[in-house]
This record gives sequence, structure tokens and C-alpha cells, in this order.
Amino acid sequence: MPIIAPSILTANFLRLEDEINMLNSSKADWIHLDIMDGVYVPNITFGFPVIRQIKSLAKKPLDAHLMIINPDRYLKDFKDAGVDLLTVHLEACTHLDRTISEISNLGMKPGVAVNPHTSLDGLQYILPKLSMVLIMTVNPGFGGQKFIDYSYEKVRKLKQMIVDSGASTLIQVDGGVSKSNLKPLVDAGVDAFVVGNTIFASSDPVAMIEDLKEMKNLS
Ligand code: DX5
Ligand code: ZN
Repeated sequence: MPIIAPSILTANFLRLEDEINMLNSSKADWIHLDIMDGVYVPNITFGFPVIRQIKSLAKKPLDAHLMIINPDRYLKDFKDAGVDLLTVHLEACTHLDRTISEISNLGMKPGVAVNPHTSLDGLQYILPKLSMVLIMTVNPGFGGQKFIDYSYEKVRKLKQMIVDSGASTLIQVDGGVSKSNLKPLVDAGVDAFVVGNTIFASSDPVAMIEDLKEMKNLS
């Protein structure tokens, strides 16, 4: 069964407690936190005080996706705020090997995200050190965007790289995931799905999460 990581980017922040409790009661595996700095991406979201509040309520691991330049400045702060899986962008790190080693040393699971246009070549040597590679299937910055179709080829290529290297790295996709592309993405090799709009714009988010998790009632 796929790992489902609802992104709270499109949750109702006036009712964040209810939204986290809803996720706690659902079949979601992780809670995905999109951290944006307004420089790396053209949007700003939230930071440590909000993450700490979420941690105090959440019964699922926190999966943070950093869309910030120079994330090295804040790795320990994310650990202290309660993050379990920490993903940085390949394009935002000059010394990526050092960054992921530091994330592991702090006791978090390291992930690396790649933008749609970014080649997978830069991942080859670090793959065995990564818990997860996040393939962006939209340009990062906003929820509710359209899935980019060439992502399938990229997922298949990454899956082959992982098999060839003997690593156990998970493949995560983020952006535009819906009931219509979940199954083909699982078939291509995706293990974990970030899902924002499809869940939070649904009239019954708990049922939507269950359908995605159990791959039923797909369109
Ligand atoms: C985009 C974020 C995503 C976003 C996904 O920059 O990284 O996590 O919330 O939202 P949907 O599922 O609505 O495309
Ligand atoms: Zn994300």
C-alpha cells in the first residue's frame, strides 16, 4: 500500500487543531509540512512556532519539505521542533553530502527533492545515504497545480537507479496527485505520495485518504 502524506498547505489554518485531529483519525501515514522562504520559491508559509504546535498534537511522523535556500542554517531547529523526515532541495544545497549527513546525525531521516527540470544525475553517489528522494511533479510554491506528465519517465528512471544501486531509498512524489494518477504512479515505482488539494478540497477528507491509501474508488 502506498504511503500517504497529506500536505497541510491547503488546510484551514484557522482550524488547524481540527485539521490535525482529522489527520490523526485518518489512515494518513505522515503529515507533510511545506516550508517556503519566499526566496527559493515565490511563496512564504510557516515556521518553527507552528511546527511545534503541530507536533504537540500530531500522532503521525512529521515529513518536512524545505523550499528554502541554505537549509543548513536550520537543520537542528527542525529537529528540535519535532520533524522526523527532513527533505532539502538538491538545487538549494552547495554541499549536499554534508547536509544529508548532518540530517542523519541529528536523528532525522534525510530526503532530497528535485525540481521537475532537474536531472537525477546529481543523486547517483548519495542515493544509499537517502531515506527518500522527492520528485517534484509540479513547480514548487503552490498547492492545487496540474501534474507534469513527464514525471512518469523520471520516476521509472529513478526506480532503476535505486534497484541498480541496491539501496532501499523511497520514492516520493509531490504535486497534482489525484485519484486518476495514483495507480499509474505506483506502477512506475512511487512509494510515498504528498497530497494537498485532493484531500483538503474534498467533502470527506478522511474517506479520500482511505481511498488513496487502499487504492479504491480511483477514477
Ligand atoms: C508544492 C508543495 C506541495 C503541495 C501539494 O510546492 O510542495 O506539497 O502542497 O499540493 P497539491 O497536492 O495540491 O498539488
Ligand atoms: Zn511539499
